Amino acid sequence: MADTRHFLTLMDFSPDELQALLRRATEMKQARLAGTESPRFTGKVLGMIFAKSSTRTRVSFEAGMTQLGGHAMFLSPSDTQLGRGEPIEDSARVISSMVDLVMIRTFGHDILESFAAHSSVPVINGLTDDYHPCQLMADMQTYAEHRGSISGKVVTWVGDGNNMAQSYINASRQFDFELRVACPPGYEPDATLLEANRDRVSVIHDPLAAAAGADLVVTDVWASMGQEAEQKAREAAFSGYQVNAELMSRAAGDALYMHCLPAHRGEEISAELMDAADTVVWEEAENRLHAQKAIMEFLLLANR
Ligand code: CP
Ligand code: NVA
Repeated sequence: MADTRHFLTLMDFSPDELQALLRRATEMKQARLAGTESPRFTGKVLGMIFAKSSTRTRVSFEAGMTQLGGHAMFLSPSDTQLGRGEPIEDSARVISSMVDLVMIRTFGHDILESFAAHSSVPVINGLTDDYHPCQLMADMQTYAEHRGSISGKVVTWVGDGNNMAQSYINASRQFDFELRVACPPGYEPDATLLEANRDRVSVIHDPLAAAAGADLVVTDVWASMGQEAEQKAREAAFSGYQVNAELMSRAAGDALYMHCLPAHRGEEISAELMDAADTVVWEEAENRLHAQKAIMEFLLLANR
């Protein structure tokens, strides 16, 4: 337990480990395309706990396990004892005694941390209110495959200071880039996290100014899961914080734009950019599959 490796945030792995994971993810992607993938996870079981909705995370983890010879089990609070109040610590002890890996998508990051503290097998963060590190691995893989190293580049985040923005702050440290966060006042990422990374992260409320010369522009929904009641207020607060052709015209000539999806066309991103023939957002989504296979392989090997 104490020495079990987990992937709760990008800070759980060293920069070298993260780079190796990106290389391995691209290798696994090529093997899948070439039809030479080998079933490395035979007999392994991944337990997947989803307290929030998901398309990409569920499909990529489940497909990834199956493609490598293992099995993934979907567990939702509504039809397990988790939804009837069984303590997270007890659930962690029991579930981890029967499976080889656990992936959790939930609300509070503390729930994930409690589960990991009582789990005898590695735990992967499939998104919490605070962080979404698996998405970052797919984003970093996509950037590397299209543009090479992101080290020393400028990344502009446009939108809410949410779980994705906070993961980009961790990424700026682990992958060594400058991050500009363009959000409306009052929607900044966590103040302590910002302060700890002030050498490379700045908050610039004007999105066009923040995008100037950027190598990568990233956005996400204005209202995250769990914030549905704030949708209308957020639409008002975030109008003007849209990634569109005008904003991209301020970025570097070869800048990429990304979105973790699901996207709301006409809100945080224009329909024109979402539907552009040369967008990388679909490959970014597909890379969830490859990046997570590399993460699962690492954790299964690291904890043998
Ligand atoms: N980007 C992402 O995590 O998508 P899902 O919510 O569909 O899993
Ligand atoms: N910030 C979004 C990301 C969805 C993948 C949310 O938490 O709902």
